Amino acid sequence: MNTFDLQNKSVVITGASSGMGRAAALAFAREGARLVLAARRSEEGEAVAAAARALGAEAVFVQADVTREEDVRRVIDQAVQRYGRLDVAFNNAGTEGLAAPLHEQPIDNFDRVMSTNVKSVFFSMKHEIAAMLESGGGAIVNNASMGSFIGFQNLSPYIASKHAVLGLTRTAALEYFPKGIRINAVCPGIIDTPFQDRVWGSEEAKQGFAKSTPPGRIGTSEEVADLVLFLASARATFFSGQGVVIDGGYTVA
Ligand SMILES: NC(=O)c1ccc[n+]([C@@H]2O[C@H](COP(=O)([O-])OP(=O)(O)OC[C@H]3O[C@@H](n4cnc5c(N)ncnc54)[C@H](OP(=O)(O)O)[C@@H]3O)[C@@H](O)[C@H]2O)c1
Repeated sequence: MNTFDLQNKSVVITGASSGMGRAAALAFAREGARLVLAARRSEEGEAVAAAARALGAEAVFVQADVTREEDVRRVIDQAVQRYGRLDVAFNNAGTEGLAAPLHEQPIDNFDRVMSTNVKSVFFSMKHEIAAMLESGGGAIVNNASMGSFIGFQNLSPYIASKHAVLGLTRTAALEYFPKGIRINAVCPGIIDTPFQDRVWGSEEAKQGFAKSTPPGRIGTSEEVADLVLFLASARATFFSGQGVVIDGGYTVA
């Protein structure tokens, strides 16, 4: 397709076994990018890598837990070793954690959500930036949330984690824009992935909520993937430090 001129770009995507990570992997594959895909579940991750290769892209799956710095480093090393450099990263892996009012939240849920959503982005950017500095620049897109800007009942650790992802994004963007690395975040609203199935518990509850929102529907992973491609591409050369909300207007209602 080559809409965003990402042909042969070396791209790392975390959380590529499902949802928005999977959709982004296939969208980058259609653009002819070369992919390193990471997640914990091998079968699902290998299936996404195979689907990307079927679209004509080079793609490899690396099993990794993004809460572990050594795993994250291994993923980024793969991209540099295989493709000679790292051009783009989509730091997307994340979890919603337990839904409960704050006073009932177990501390281990808080720690797990922070490790999965925040520490992972810190580890990822640390090693991605080091690789990008070696090769003269790149673009990083973090998956934050509309919950980086607003509260959401019963998801206090998750919402705190996504505020933190935006803080990391903004700060790293300031540090590295002068060195040729643009760093932005996509901030999705309610997107139809297994994540939302777990949050709402039933298709009925999920669709009921979606109907009450301005667009009257849930967004798709493919709609978010298009935004990720744009922010990663040379079409977005004046974007850095932004949390770009893609929520069908939910947060402006
Ligand atoms: N869906 C929404 O409405 C929505 C809205 C705003 C933001 N987001 C954010 O979007 C991102 C993607 O979520 P999604 O909606 O696409 O949900 P999803 O389908 O559940 O995907 C989550 C991905 O993260 C991976 N992951 C989770 N923990 C991991 C770990 N410790 N190490 C490595 N990979 C890990 C999962 O892979 P494995 O289980 O195989 O490890 C999976 O590929 C998340 O950061 C989420 O917070 C989602």
